[in-house]
Amino acid sequence: MVAEQRTALITGGMGGLGEVIARTLHDAGHRVLVTYSPGNDHAPTWLSEQAADGYKFSAYAVDVADDVSCQAMVEKIHADGHRIDILVNNAGTTRDGTFRKMSKVNWDAVLRTNLDSVFNVTRPLLDGMLERGWGRIINISSINGNKGQFGQTNYSAAKAGMHGFTKALAQEVARKGVTVNTVSPGYLSTKMVTAVPEDVLGQIVAGIPVGRLGKPEEIAGLIAFIASAAGAFMTGSNVSMNGGQHMY
Ligand code: CAA
Repeated sequence: MVAEQRTALITGGMGGLGEVIARTLHDAGHRVLVTYSPGNDHAPTWLSEQAADGYKFSAYAVDVADDVSCQAMVEKIHADGHRIDILVNNAGTTRDGTFRKMSKVNWDAVLRTNLDSVFNVTRPLLDGMLERGWGRIINISSINGNKGQFGQTNYSAAKAGMHGFTKALAQEVARKGVTVNTVSPGYLSTKMVTAVPEDVLGQIVAGIPVGRLGKPEEIAGLIAFIASAAGAFMTGSNVSMNGGQHMY
């Protein structure tokens, strides 16, 4: 048990990275709530599998791209008696393709899910953190928001936008005990990454000095630190963890 138990909300908490973040924050002694998209019919199975491993999570269906859906979710979370201290904006998606072939649909899908979601989920939760004088907002960006990536104009734009948001909001709330940070993982061994064509992924891994994909656990450990009391002086940061693939 941590010195003070907090309540964490992880968007996309049933996904490749989100699940490991949820388990890591649970291991750190926090109460953990996860969101999943309304179309995900595996949620009950996922919850019972986690419970069998000793992880008790509460789950909320929400379309993070839709502000009305997010407001309704936060009302439900509050009605259930939860107060969110730690928010991990982790939900994200890809629609890769060169810009010349990119449709407006694929642009919008990525900008709405990856960037608008940060507004939609943070906005209704921020006042509570400010009133209680303690909060941690952690935005999961990407190496590709920092360096750009061939075939990802939409994703790189959204992920870079997340850090602009981090830097601005961090200044607005710093005096009120709330920190706002960005974490920029490199290529991890998750479904999102292994969906990249094998030959392309092989070339990417060849460019990672550590010589392998990252483990979600490595990113989650960093998030647990940022969420802890010891992380209080870190705000407005963009912390990279990418096996040396992009150094700046
Ligand atoms: N740099 C320069 N040129 C490149 C290139 C690169 N990195 N990659 C491909 N090209 C070239 C090819 O050699 C080819 O050239 P020619 O036409 O002269 O033969 C051309 O670009 C291919 O262009 P196409 O429009 O035909 O592209 P495609 O349909 O073959 O595929 C793609 C393009 C879908 C973007 C594919 O390259 C791809 O999937 N790339 C990986 C993108 C990626 O890294 N996604 C990350 C997903 S995981 C994630 O996002 C998590 C995270 O945060 C890290």
